[in-house]
Amino acid sequence: NTYVAIMAGGIGSRFWPASREERPKQFLDILGVGKSLIRLTFERFLKLCPASNIFIVTNKQYAGLVKEHLPELTDNQILTEPSRNNTAPCIAYTAFKLQALNPDANLVVAPSDHIILKEDTFVETLQQGLAFTAANDALLTLGITPTRPDTGYGYIEIDPKVPGDSNQPKSVKAFREKPDRPTAQQYLDSGNYLWNAGIFVWRVSSLLKAFAENAPEIHRILGAGAPHYNTPQEQAFIDEAYPTTPSISVDYAIMEKAGNVFTIPSDFGWSDLGTWASLHAESPKDDQSNVAQGSPIQLIDTQDTLVRAPKGKRLVIGGLDDYIVVDEGDVLLIWPKSREQEIKHLVDK
Ligand code: GDD
Ligand code: MG
Repeated sequence: NTYVAIMAGGIGSRFWPASREERPKQFLDILGVGKSLIRLTFERFLKLCPASNIFIVTNKQYAGLVKEHLPELTDNQILTEPSRNNTAPCIAYTAFKLQALNPDANLVVAPSDHIILKEDTFVETLQQGLAFTAANDALLTLGITPTRPDTGYGYIEIDPKVPGDSNQPKSVKAFREKPDRPTAQQYLDSGNYLWNAGIFVWRVSSLLKAFAENAPEIHRILGAGAPHYNTPQEQAFIDEAYPTTPSISVDYAIMEKAGNVFTIPSDFGWSDLGTWASLHAESPKDDQSNVAQGSPIQLIDTQDTLVRAPKGKRLVIGGLDDYIVVDEGDVLLIWPKSREQEIKHLVDK
């Protein structure tokens, strides 16, 4: 009954200008290993279930890219959204479709763009989570010990007073998506919080119940398609109904509101790879803590800076501290690393 849904519809706007709307970061070889992030994610899940149980949810615009990167999938395994409505409608659509295929489906929902270094531990953690959600009406998310007051993540509050078997998932007291900086610092100092890895485990029946209770509009709109899922009418229904759903992430729509949220504190070498700073943090650095992708790049009196340029372009940079410099196609971006959360808004402008 194990299924996986990989969300691959984001535009990766915080990785602009490398990530563009026509080819977002999940389809790029960001790590320089010869495979795109979505390919790496798919191959990792083959350790958990057969390819036939892995589904991709993406924007219609990227269906062709998905087929190119994952040729082993059938068309029925690629769910295509006609509009960008964030992750709550995307996950609800997946849940209704899988419910029609298998009412006992136990589902892992994961992003397509994360680094996971310890794959065996990752798979064991998911198996533990799936056993838990098979037996309990629970919304489970994987938790990571935070290392900085990052404002780009969801935070999971654990109740330290509830003694728990360390092998059992822990009940979540509160979930807070993307707090402001002072709040994030408070969470970090308290020691009672984990980062939400954005990797969820739930039975499809529990998930749909959570939508009915916390996001009834999404449940009503997409639930009306029940007779059409996995039939030739599915796409026509989705094309009409999906754009009318509210645009909201699953974190705000469900996780902050539901009472039956659980987490497994995990350590599998996770990194979100959500931003230039996280790529800087995960990459090998020189003795001034700079990361340079491309050549020739000369950095003089420069620290904590990430520079990415096309091969053959000579970059000479002096006196920069804590910056992002990305020269890609027709754009050159020079931006303070500490203000990288603003980069996604540049794309809108
Ligand atoms: N299919 C589809 N449709 N996928 C989407 C859409 C959509 O409309 N929007 C986003 N995605 C995909 C992205 O491609 C990514 O793989 C995943 O869903 C999560 O979206 P992000 O936009 O990357 O979310 P985030 O990073 O701001 O926050 C989430 O992840 C953090 C950890 O990386 C939240 O779950 C946070 O709580 C969490 O800490
Ligand atoms: Mg992300």
